[in-house]
Amino acid sequence: MLFDTHVHLNATQFTEDRNEVIKRAFDTGIKYMVVVGFDRETIPLAIEIAEQNETIYAAVGWHPVDAIDMTDAELAWIEELSSHPKVVAIGEMGLDYHWDKSPKEVQKEVFRKQIRLAKKVNMPIIIHNREATEDIIEIMQEEDAKQVGGIMHCYNDSARYVQTCLDMNFYISLGGPVTFKNAPLPKEVAQQVPLDRLLVETDAPFLAPHPNRGKRNEPAYVKLVAEKIAELREMSFDEISKITTENAFSLFNIKK
Ligand code: NI
Repeated sequence: MLFDTHVHLNATQFTEDRNEVIKRAFDTGIKYMVVVGFDRETIPLAIEIAEQNETIYAAVGWHPVDAIDMTDAELAWIEELSSHPKVVAIGEMGLDYHWDKSPKEVQKEVFRKQIRLAKKVNMPIIIHNREATEDIIEIMQEEDAKQVGGIMHCYNDSARYVQTCLDMNFYISLGGPVTFKNAPLPKEVAQQVPLDRLLVETDAPFLAPHPNRGKRNEPAYVKLVAEKIAELREMSFDEISKITTENAFSLFNIKK
């Protein structure tokens, strides 16, 4: 039994065959998922998918790439949705320095506002980080994100930042890149993260694991991520599955 802690079943890539994708995941043993909303269109759809499936949950937040589009009305909307019974986290939020649609200063302000909101409603945070680790950590520290903790989603930087994230009550979630042949960093992280802070995810439709790299990702493939981590840690797949699923229950406050 596996828990895909970050999947975008609400993305347009799944419009045609979403129910088949969900069924394939269930058939592969991926019983639990969190569908992450990140803008006006994907947030309501994340909640709708969670309402239709007992073991699928939703997260609501605003993506840093589109930070420039977020008004106070959207922030209030996210706050209102956070009390929905299937919403388990605020995010994804963070900083993305790869794309320049939203200036860094705007991204930082929108990130801070969402951390404050998560603290107000007392829910864990899902962090998106692309080429911005040091600024992310600085803002998390200044805003005391430790109060609620959360997930460093698809962690893809050096292992030297991991301890700082753990100290702030954050979990480290690994996805497809841990299976990539030329990606030493996530492999190193997979071997070092304390087991009680490790999560698995797909970030589907993006970042499909080997041997499906470059194709559309889907939640069933989280099995490939867990298998790779088991191999790297010299543990059984069942152990990694059990531990990461329990971790997700505990972080998202899901009562079985
Ligand atoms: Ni995502």
